[in-house]
Amino acid sequence: MGQPTGATVVYPNATEERFDDATDALERMNQGIIEYSYDYAPALIPEAGGELSLWRYRDLLPLPEGAVQYPLQIGGTPLHPVPGLRELLGMSDLWVKDETRTPTGSNKDRATALVLEHAIRDDRPVVSCASTGNVAASLAIGAASCGRKAVIFVPAHASDAKLRLMRLAGATILQIRQGYEAAFKLSEEAAAAFGWYSRNTGYNPLTTEAKKTVALEIWEQFGRQMPDVMVSPVGDGPTLSALAKGFRELVACGVAERMPRIIGVQAEGCQPIVRAWRTGEPIAASEPDTLADGIAVEMPVSGPSVLRDVRESGGDFVTVSDDDLLQAINDMAERGGLLAEPAGAAGFAGTKAALSEGLIGSDERVAVLMTGTLFKNMSYGRAFTKAHEIDADLGQVREIVEAE
Ligand SMILES: Cc1ncc(COP(=O)(O)O)c(C=O)c1O
Repeated sequence: MGQPTGATVVYPNATEERFDDATDALERMNQGIIEYSYDYAPALIPEAGGELSLWRYRDLLPLPEGAVQYPLQIGGTPLHPVPGLRELLGMSDLWVKDETRTPTGSNKDRATALVLEHAIRDDRPVVSCASTGNVAASLAIGAASCGRKAVIFVPAHASDAKLRLMRLAGATILQIRQGYEAAFKLSEEAAAAFGWYSRNTGYNPLTTEAKKTVALEIWEQFGRQMPDVMVSPVGDGPTLSALAKGFRELVACGVAERMPRIIGVQAEGCQPIVRAWRTGEPIAASEPDTLADGIAVEMPVSGPSVLRDVRESGGDFVTVSDDDLLQAINDMAERGGLLAEPAGAAGFAGTKAALSEGLIGSDERVAVLMTGTLFKNMSYGRAFTKAHEIDADLGQVREIVEAE
């Protein structure tokens, strides 16, 4: 494990704590090479009112002074009241934080924005990352928006639609046969060797800082109140850990009294963190066997922080099967008007599981993180059989509508 090697104030409010360098990238990520902290005070939180956006929280971000140059709109995603899903689950105060309303339809766009803001200011022409798909699509499109070159390392199972998006944005894509972990290591080696700017989540601590703004928005959208429970999918882990950091910092700033209980959701076919939670053993690699590519992570880099965050929040974990995920995709579409990809629907599927396991009460205020859009994965969801071909005749319309 690395040792802290000192803290420096590098941005207006942010203190950067560095840890000593280990050679292995994964090892470095487990210890979190850099963490940011702030002189927490209510003054760091913006006044109520005004437009929601990631940059609204710049006093709680590692960001130099000066105007933001990243051109795409980021943050301020909706928190839906979902009446149909409330009715379906018998939950009176269920909400969905819709992180698909972003430039590329996933929660990755926040981190991409802050990383690219730094790349622009530091004049770094090439940015790189390893990803199961959404990070890569996000970086490719984000880089295109501000004239950077993106080099993307993806595992062999990345979805075709995501690969097409990356190509459309002009990224160089390297598909690594040995899978995600190998892609990740190679991307770190390449960034170091060629001087590229790495956006790898967990490695680049800016990503956590950007993603924590989801928690700040949720708190603001609830009228500056915490939900009772926050449900989040877990793949590599930074999404959940960043949420926890956001909630923790609201408490540290003295504007909230407690964190919500955080419930992490993994796929039954890839649950290394849940297994460690239940057995007390260290996290061990698990061969992914799930259709939810976003959470099919063999050896989660932020696993230890996720375990700590969930424990500290008084939360828990659940697992969901692929059938549960497909059902959740259909339910979210049919009863919520929300289009989620499998990993993006894991939060909702996990909420259903947590409710039936008694981990959450039916009248608690529960916020579910929806992380990725179905648009990039249209092959999931209810199978499309056939449209009804009819004559232009009102009687036939009535007949079909009454039968469905
Ligand atoms: C749609 C979606 N949901 C959830 C996750 C999991 O996030 P994390 O790896 O931060 O745990 C991912 C990660 O790629 C994703 O793409």
